[in-house]
Amino acid sequence: MASPSELRTPQAVTSALIVKGALANVLGFPIGGTTIGTHYSEGHRVRLTVQIGQAPDPTETQFIQVAETINTILAANQPVHVFKLARHQAQTSYKNAMYNRHAVPESVTELTIAYIEKIAFSCTAEAVVASTGMVGAITINKTKFRSAKKELEIQYTVSTPSESGPAVLAVTKENDETLPSSEAISLLNSDTVRQASGGEGNEKRGNGGNIGSASGEGGQVVTPWEVEGDQEIDYDKLIKSFGSMRITESLVSRIERLTNRKCHRFLRRGLFFSHRDLTQLLDLYEKGTKFYLYTGRGPSSESLHLGHLIPFHFTRYLQEAFDVPLVIQLTDDEKFQFKQGLALEECHRLAYENAKDVIACGFDVKKTFIFSDLDYIQYLYPTVLKIQKLVTFNQARGIFGFTESDSCGKIAFPAVQAAPSFPSSFPVPLKGCLDMPCLIPCAIDQDAYFRMTRDVAPRLGCKKPSLIHSKFFPGLEGKGGKMSASAEQSAIYVTDTGKKIKTKISRAFSGGQETAELQKELGADLEVDVAYQYLTFFSEDDDELETIGKEYKAGRMMTGQVKGRLIELLTAMVKEHQDRRATVGDEILREFMRVRELEF
Ligand code: TRP
Repeated sequence: MASPSELRTPQAVTSALIVKGALANVLGFPIGGTTIGTHYSEGHRVRLTVQIGQAPDPTETQFIQVAETINTILAANQPVHVFKLARHQAQTSYKNAMYNRHAVPESVTELTIAYIEKIAFSCTAEAVVASTGMVGAITINKTKFRSAKKELEIQYTVSTPSESGPAVLAVTKENDETLPSSEAISLLNSDTVRQASGGEGNEKRGNGGNIGSASGEGGQVVTPWEVEGDQEIDYDKLIKSFGSMRITESLVSRIERLTNRKCHRFLRRGLFFSHRDLTQLLDLYEKGTKFYLYTGRGPSSESLHLGHLIPFHFTRYLQEAFDVPLVIQLTDDEKFQFKQGLALEECHRLAYENAKDVIACGFDVKKTFIFSDLDYIQYLYPTVLKIQKLVTFNQARGIFGFTESDSCGKIAFPAVQAAPSFPSSFPVPLKGCLDMPCLIPCAIDQDAYFRMTRDVAPRLGCKKPSLIHSKFFPGLEGKGGKMSASAEQSAIYVTDTGKKIKTKISRAFSGGQETAELQKELGADLEVDVAYQYLTFFSEDDDELETIGKEYKAGRMMTGQVKGRLIELLTAMVKEHQDRRATVGDEILREFMRVRELEF
């Protein structure tokens, strides 16, 4: 039996957005607050229940229209955008349009919203695919209308063709300027019948049509935002839909043999969980071919939180264990293009500020080159150009969900993140070794960039880079925390004081019981316990971790004790980071960022 979360594949979750959108458009009901629930079952079957104003047309012609609308949306392969938005801002702009029937808890101050132009605009706690075409086909099996409650239930099947290739997840954007206008959404949130269906044909129809702004605005959807239940990303499904490989125990052991040391706890404990072509890279390494490491950061904020440090701590381990050179890209250009309200000069400054935090993670200056795209672009540019020539707009749209209204700058950017995957971008640091393989440690959401990179590599006559992917770092409020994150409260920042860390962890979601008596009787649920989960990431001591897990689960240990241990650990870790960062002066910074030959 598949667990509920396994059934909520990105394709299935996106299908619910599309079906709700088609229903709202054809039957004419507002999208806000009208989704009562969605239920996913085996065999890719979905049951969606919505509140509608009046009974549907008894002749069923409306359902033929619904089916047609669904097919048009799928065929148009419309991009699915995912935005992170402050809750108050979302409510000011869009009223209740993004909500469904389940209330989003008061404590949630940041919403993750999936948006399909004219179709859907909905809070979502789960991953969705990057464009509607990736869903496959949707077949309606059954509809039921409960007249007393005015509830419509629709049952359908999703069939994703296996030859459609791995699905690409929509990448979450923060405060993106492609946010829909409040007028467009307010129209979708009205109870009028609308012309939904994406694609250019429809836009033309809209322009020739009736009342001004009404043309072209389609329906939108509210997918169920399930407050309770398991809202975690299903990483196994992700591996399947991306077509990457799981990191197995035997792969971990092989790395330990090759490097002659215990693997980093992030590998042993599954935070880094997926890879592409890591085995091939290790084969080469075993035969004496050195690779180089490439990772990066988009400098969009002054201070980093613990989640930001994870790839860097891991990369530092890789650098030490394999004794290889490393390049770190700071994409100030990316943040300027994608984030609203950030001046170019500010992005550049933040790149330097963030570089100090990166350096504080302990990299070896002789083997590490950190660069800002703005500074280093002349070296990247020949490779960038060759990549750009090989990727059509259609492909970029398919991978990243760009639309015609995205700026040229955004569409041009992916080649800039791709370029450092090829040694030709580093004639000086890599001393002209054009054959060097590349390994990229990154969070799984960056995979889209590197799928594009790997796709063009053979045509450039280059090796495909290998990848090692991490899961997302959970927020302090636990499962579903990905969307419920109020930035400040849900994360521990490297600038936090000991006192702040203590308060934040004390408030973190607990899997322990309400009272000491109950805890003794029932024990804790380790799976959902944030403090325990964090210990698995940050405690180096396998034996201690095992003991805490056993005792806490059995009710012999209290939440307060577990949190106390975590507070101790993180306070020390953050303090150490702050101390090291304080030693990173301009001179050290300049040396890391100077174009020079690396030692290897
Ligand atoms: N785009 C990434 C971000 O916004 C930064 C980045 C650039 C990166 N190159 C990378 C991340 C390589 C991982 C690997 O954070």
